[in-house]
Amino acid sequence: MSAVTDLRVRTRSEADLRRMRASDTVRKKYGVPRHLWGHRLSHYVARDADQRNAADILLQHLREWGSRNGSARGVLLAGPHGTGKSHLACAALYELAYQSREKQLCRFVSAHDYVAAKQTILGRFDTDVSERISEYQDADLLVLDQLGGEHRTATGYAESTLYQLVSDRYNDGRPTVVTTWLGKRQLTEIHPALMNLLEREAATLVPMTGGTDARG
Ligand SMILES: Nc1ncnc2c1ncn2[C@@H]1O[C@H](COP(=O)(O)OP(=O)(O)O)[C@@H](O)[C@H]1O
Ligand SMILES: [Mg+2]
Repeated sequence: MSAVTDLRVRTRSEADLRRMRASDTVRKKYGVPRHLWGHRLSHYVARDADQRNAADILLQHLREWGSRNGSARGVLLAGPHGTGKSHLACAALYELAYQSREKQLCRFVSAHDYVAAKQTILGRFDTDVSERISEYQDADLLVLDQLGGEHRTATGYAESTLYQLVSDRYNDGRPTVVTTWLGKRQLTEIHPALMNLLEREAATLVPMTGGTDARG
């Protein structure tokens, strides 16, 4: 390899490395797991009919979320493990946070981690955790992943905390994308207030069955 080619190859890979590092810094800030980062919704290749339907619905919502005074209506992606719910939710987040002209403030948190963070500051004040919680509450788009995975107790703390988060965000005009493996009946049993809010106005309900469209 000549010295000139060598330099060009090195320069390009250094630029790529810089871009990758910058992208990874954003990913960490947004809280998105590494394997779910960098997938674009606009380049999404669906594996089944439900994924195609869910991607189309998310693309429609994205147009709204990207505009000023857009809709606060989020999306509830519900279905068994491994059907691509988190992947799609993060592809929408990536589009809005990283690829749109007006890069929007986005956050990703699991229901478990959100409830745990809220519990942490009940016991003792912690500036970092308080700041993170405010970011989840104020983000232009929040992905609330794995609803149902939160630690629930007899006090109903987890249920009311999660309801409050989605409800306050909705009332402030901020959409939330929720993923869950719980079925509709379980969701209504465990999270009646939240499910009622989502179903009534705060989200478009989208099934992800992992196979062909179960709705026929
Ligand atoms: N359409 C797709 N294209 C590429 N990878 C996909 C697609 N759907 C799912 N995956 C991958 O399959 C795995 C499981 O998807 P995930 O979104 O984590 O499922 P769920 O959240 O429903 O449990 C992930 O690694 C994800 O990136
Ligand atoms: Mg998931």
